[in-house]
Amino acid sequence: MDAKEISLSEIEVKPVVDMLNDYLANYHIHYQKLRGCHWNIKGQNFFTLHAKFEELYTSAQQTIDEIAERVLTLGKPPHSRFADYIKESAIQEIDTIGMNDLDMVDAILDDMAKLIEIERLLLEATDQASDDGTNDMVNRFMQFKEKNTWMLRSFAGKK
Ligand SMILES: [Fe+2]
Repeated sequence: MDAKEISLSEIEVKPVVDMLNDYLANYHIHYQKLRGCHWNIKGQNFFTLHAKFEELYTSAQQTIDEIAERVLTLGKPPHSRFADYIKESAIQEIDTIGMNDLDMVDAILDDMAKLIEIERLLLEATDQASDDGTNDMVNRFMQFKEKNTWMLRSFAGKK
């Protein structure tokens, strides 16, 4: 299976595949950060944020699977090793033990901003490659984080 089986040019779609693998790496680090926040949240906002972080990591887990399977649909293997994720991710790991609740929200907002930045570049690259399928998928994931950025900023009392 390669891109030509679905009427896409392998050469044109190559930058999309490479960016999807980077995107996958970033999403994995983000996912594990959400789990750490879910586990280590303390204080008055425990019940709200413990549940919210679970909602977000459950969504991220499904997103990760869709990204990886899109890479396969385009004819290439997705990265599947943590060593590759850590090496390629612009998003950095953090230690959530003892972290304050609003600092956790800020850390997640920072990740979402970075992921949205990557998504906007991916939307341009998919446009160039006439890859409407990836474009549609990434657009959907971006809208989810745009909305959650509004909600998390409202929770934190930000403008
Ligand atoms: Fe849990």
